[in-house]
Amino acid sequence: MPLARVLADLEAQLAALDKAGVAKGRETVVTGVVPAGGALGPRVLLDGERTCLRMNSNSYLGLSLHHRVIDAAERATRRFGAGPGAVRFISGTTEPHVRLESALADFHARDAVQLTSSAYTSVMGVLATLVTPETAIFSDELNHSCIVNGMKLARPLERKIYPHLDLAALERDLSASTAQGALIITDGVFSMRGDHAPLDKLSLLAERYDARFPRGVLLVVDDSHGVGAFGASGRGTEEVCGARADLLIGTLGKAFGVNGGYVASSASVIRYLREKNPFYIYSNPISPSEAAAALEAVEIARGDEGVRLLAHLRQVTHRFRDGLARLGFETIPGQHPVVPLLVRDTARTRALSAFLREHGVLATGLAYPVVPRGSELIRFQLSASHTAADVDEVLSVLARFKA
Ligand SMILES: Cc1ncc(COP(=O)(O)O)c(C=O)c1O
Repeated sequence: MPLARVLADLEAQLAALDKAGVAKGRETVVTGVVPAGGALGPRVLLDGERTCLRMNSNSYLGLSLHHRVIDAAERATRRFGAGPGAVRFISGTTEPHVRLESALADFHARDAVQLTSSAYTSVMGVLATLVTPETAIFSDELNHSCIVNGMKLARPLERKIYPHLDLAALERDLSASTAQGALIITDGVFSMRGDHAPLDKLSLLAERYDARFPRGVLLVVDDSHGVGAFGASGRGTEEVCGARADLLIGTLGKAFGVNGGYVASSASVIRYLREKNPFYIYSNPISPSEAAAALEAVEIARGDEGVRLLAHLRQVTHRFRDGLARLGFETIPGQHPVVPLLVRDTARTRALSAFLREHGVLATGLAYPVVPRGSELIRFQLSASHTAADVDEVLSVLARFKA
């Protein structure tokens, strides 16, 4: 039976992952949320365990639990049903989808936006659709998995990976390229480290080399961790650097607290993607309730409440970063709510994340191959739903680990 041999192979590979200590293993099951009370922010209930403070959520503004976002989802479910029922061009486009696209275009000051089911598929779709056999792709070595896999799916003339943030190396690759067109792609904020790409310099480089390529140079930025959470008004890495991407990819599943992804660009690019992007044409969109909830989240983010939430997020992030420095932990400087604590050792990373969990703190230990060897770390993610008391609680657990 052929399946038996395939199973034996798969099981051997799984055993090797277990043996090397790099398997993701059993997933944590959240069974409920305990609302904020007194000086403390919300806690999650885990299957068979105590309540935990979640320091590993991407919901940077705390909007996933916001009553207006939840109400919007409920109302849209009653109006349109639980799912879209079809892909966009058949009959799956509902009013919340269209209103959300226009609110996001407005938020990012772009002509148009295309929603997709996730940022992952946005990136895959952009690369599969816009890259031709005459294109060279230039990509930062620490770019997210969606870019790595999108580059495999696309069939460019050249794929060039430059060392993390090394623009001199990127420039060397650009000048050596023989392609007709170039596509530079980068994460805005790098999710494992909380550092960000210098979009101002990248955009100057793209401009400088544009004339060298007969089909021009495109700058594509996946700012999934930046939009909503980074920059004075939450416009992300573009706002922090004072620069613009030709195509900006964002997610609705992090700072906006819901689910789904999008591409923002000029009207013709978005129209072209609607006609050609297979991830958009042949796959269901997010549900109407997700679109309505995300629309409410965008409205909150761009109003006064969003400004207050961002200011609070910056405060708790500072408090945590200062506390880590006082305790003598190594981190990577930055202002983003992803705060890495560099442990630089796999066994100690595991021991620290287990200690945190035993003491009611959920944070993510990252080891090779997710991060390079020697860069093993615990990733903490701050949220506007955290309080000063929450931050102090985590710092006191870390102090006990150190003692
Ligand atoms: C840079 C980047 N792109 C895309 C994604 C995936 O986002 P989504 O869940 O919307 O597919 C992530 C999430 O971790 C990310 O860090």
